[in-house]
Amino acid sequence: MPPFQRHVFVCQNQRTPGHPKGCCSDKGSAAIREALKAAAKQHGLQGLVRINEAGCLDQCEHGVTVVVYPEAVWYGFVQLADVAEIVRSHLVEGRPVERLRLADECINTTTCEHRLRPPTRR
Ligand code: FES
Ligand SMILES: [Zn+2]
Repeated sequence: MPPFQRHVFVCQNQRTPGHPKGCCSDKGSAAIREALKAAAKQHGLQGLVRINEAGCLDQCEHGVTVVVYPEAVWYGFVQLADVAEIVRSHLVEGRPVERLRLADECINTTTCEHRLRPPTRR
C-alpha cells in the first residue's frame, strides 16, 4: 500500500466556556472534520489523504484551524462551507485555497491582530 500523500490535521480542542482564547471545538471543528472525511471519501481519496484529529494547534484565535502536510499549509477561520473547496482544490487538484490561508504574521506569534496583546510592563 502506498504511503499517504497528505495528512490534514483538524484541531478538536475544547476549552472551558469563557476562556479568552476560545477553542476550535466551540466553532464547529467536529462537524468540519466529519465533512472533510466525507468529502475526501467522495473524491476517492481514501488511502491517499488522512483526515486527522488534532489537539490544540496553538492558533486558537484563528480557529477553526486546519493544517495540511507535507506542504505545511495553515488554514484559519475555516467554516463548514469551506470544506468542499479545500478538498477539491487542495486535496484533489493540489492547489491550496489562498483565501483561507493564515497570514505568516498570524502563525506562531503572540501579537497579531487576532490575538490578545501580551500584558505590558509597568
Ligand atoms: S483550540 Fe484550536 S488551535 Fe488552539
Ligand atoms: Zn492572526
